[in-house]
Amino acid sequence: MNAIDHSVFLCPGYFIRAASAPWEHAGAAALRHRVFVDEQKLFEGHDRDAIDADATTLVALSTYAHEADEVVGTVRIHEAEPGLWWGSRLAVDSRFRHTSRLGKELIRLAVSTANGRGCHTFLAHVQAQNVPLFQKLHWALEEEVDLHGAPHARMQADLRAYPPIADPEAGFLTLAKRQTPQPVTVAW
Ligand SMILES: CC(C)(COP(=O)(O)OP(=O)(O)OC[C@H]1O[C@@H](n2cnc3c(N)ncnc32)[C@H](O)[C@@H]1OP(=O)(O)O)[C@@H](O)C(=O)NCCC(=O)NCCS
Repeated sequence: MNAIDHSVFLCPGYFIRAASAPWEHAGAAALRHRVFVDEQKLFEGHDRDAIDADATTLVALSTYAHEADEVVGTVRIHEAEPGLWWGSRLAVDSRFRHTSRLGKELIRLAVSTANGRGCHTFLAHVQAQNVPLFQKLHWALEEEVDLHGAPHARMQADLRAYPPIADPEAGFLTLAKRQTPQPVTVAW
């Protein structure tokens, strides 16, 4: 665990890219555990499954002094059959939600990476409370389903909104959302 207190330090930018270094994979696994096992209690013990063996893991990395610092978001993608891709296990660290559109940027890299690998259909089982987020991002609702004891929706991405990305390891940098300056009270 690093020593940066993100409640006082505003991270200026994030790398969104395919995980490559062991610490990135370990950070993604730990984040998934925090979110899907500890927080949401969708799984007991662990959230690993057979898909992990074939999936590509994507990560959002906070930065410090321009260097990648900590895994603060993740999602995985896999090709279930030729051209048919799925995204799953989308998670943003609770300290970073609604701060810099990390969920949106991870979805962008996920679908665009698949598009660059010959995807014709990209699907995800989306938790019911997140359907409006995906609809805003050009996904269509196909069917409501119950999964892991919670309401989900199978949704399909409109690939026209996600131009192919050929090199997900390079990924891209996304900047923090501009914060509204707070008035400073000075005690004399
Ligand atoms: C869902 C999740 C990944 C979203 O990540 P995030 O980084 O907080 O979301 P973003 O900031 O990228 O959201 C993009 C936009 O959608 C909005 N949005 C986010 N979640 C939303 C929701 N559930 N419903 C409607 N709008 C939502 C944001 O306010 C933002 O709006 P803006 O562009 O006007 O600023 C995150 O909340 C999370 O990890 N939740 C717990 C795990 C989870 O639910 N995983 C998803 C399984 S499907």
